[in-house]
Amino acid sequence: MENRKTIAVLFGGQSSEHIVSCMSAVNVAGQIDTERYLPLLIGITEDGRWLKAPSLESIKDGTWRESQIEAVILPDAVRHCALVGERGRWEEVRIDGVFPVLHGLYGEDGTVQGLLELAGIPYVGCGVLSSALAMDKLYTKIVADRLGVHQAGYESVKAEELAELERVVCRIEGRFSYPVFIKPSNAGSSRGITKAGNREELKQGLMEASRHDRKILVEEMIEGREVECAVFGGGSEPVIASGVGEILPAAEFYDFDAKYFSEDSRTLTDPELPGNAAEIIPQIAVKIFNAIDGYGLSRVDFFVKSDGEVVFNEINTMPGFTAISMYPMLWEARGISKKELVTRLIEHGLSRPGFRAGRQI
Ligand SMILES: Nc1ncnc2c1ncn2[C@@H]1O[C@H](COP(=O)(O)OP(=O)(O)OP(=O)(O)O)[C@@H](O)[C@H]1O
Ligand SMILES: [Mg+2]
Repeated sequence: MENRKTIAVLFGGQSSEHIVSCMSAVNVAGQIDTERYLPLLIGITEDGRWLKAPSLESIKDGTWRESQIEAVILPDAVRHCALVGERGRWEEVRIDGVFPVLHGLYGEDGTVQGLLELAGIPYVGCGVLSSALAMDKLYTKIVADRLGVHQAGYESVKAEELAELERVVCRIEGRFSYPVFIKPSNAGSSRGITKAGNREELKQGLMEASRHDRKILVEEMIEGREVECAVFGGGSEPVIASGVGEILPAAEFYDFDAKYFSEDSRTLTDPELPGNAAEIIPQIAVKIFNAIDGYGLSRVDFFVKSDGEVVFNEINTMPGFTAISMYPMLWEARGISKKELVTRLIEHGLSRPGFRAGRQI
């Protein structure tokens, strides 16, 4: 008899961070304690098909996409299962918990979390509200404003307003001097983000951002170092924060390629920071995590100015878990190995309030 709990690891997904998610999944699935858990690897292709990955190797080399075996989690709240098999010839595989290692849209934004809520299957990480909130840069700003947390000044622009582009440009120029950052509110991983040094670039940036989302943010530029802090806990567990990590980007700003593919981008744990930044960053990270009603894990990103002023940038509810990702690295710097971290995250997910792990119906 199989005593281990079956944990479905969801990866890939329909977002621009599909590849990053695959890289993260290799690390998460590779660190699962197989004496306690039986992993079921489910990859979601870029066009949204759910396939059973035959092995960790198949995630590493990408061949999971050729799998003929489908594996679809059912929303049925009684069966708690995935239907696994070739088209039309499915068997039910019971699932005790899900680790959604998905970044960006349709994974980190509350959509998959909604499916798992319907299915009654406990899962790792933030719930529907916190995932959706943190994915949306404008709404994150609104929550951080309420907390009185320092962040870059911003203007929000709706894509519809761009029909009167000059008026929008006037509003922004009346508030900020160049350069400014232009971001789609809800897109993920630097997609659609540009830096504008003049009016022409602002116009182009607004149009570019509008291709990714209806809501656009224009932000003043913050001159500072980029640092991150890992958070874990929530529910019956205390919320704890790691130390601070710094990113030393290769590109002018930390764009998608610099973030994941450049060998010149480096990360550093426990950097020397001015003033009391190193002390207050973990405190603010916990405050923000609680404010969005976080559960499980998040990575909170900041700028630190040369005078020690700390400026909140964003919170990621399913941070990267790749070999060079900050989230696991920050916990390793605190003596928590990747394997222990993955186990703790799974156990925390399984004890999610409102779910009875492995319940028998
Ligand atoms: N206001 C700002 N001032 C200075 N640099 C900024 C500002 N906003 C963004 N940047 C730069 O652009 C990068 C990407 O912006 P941001 O972190 O907001 O979005 P994102 O990367 O899409 O989100 P995610 O981290 O979820 O992938 C930042 O890491 C930083 O290098
Ligand atoms: Mg970012």
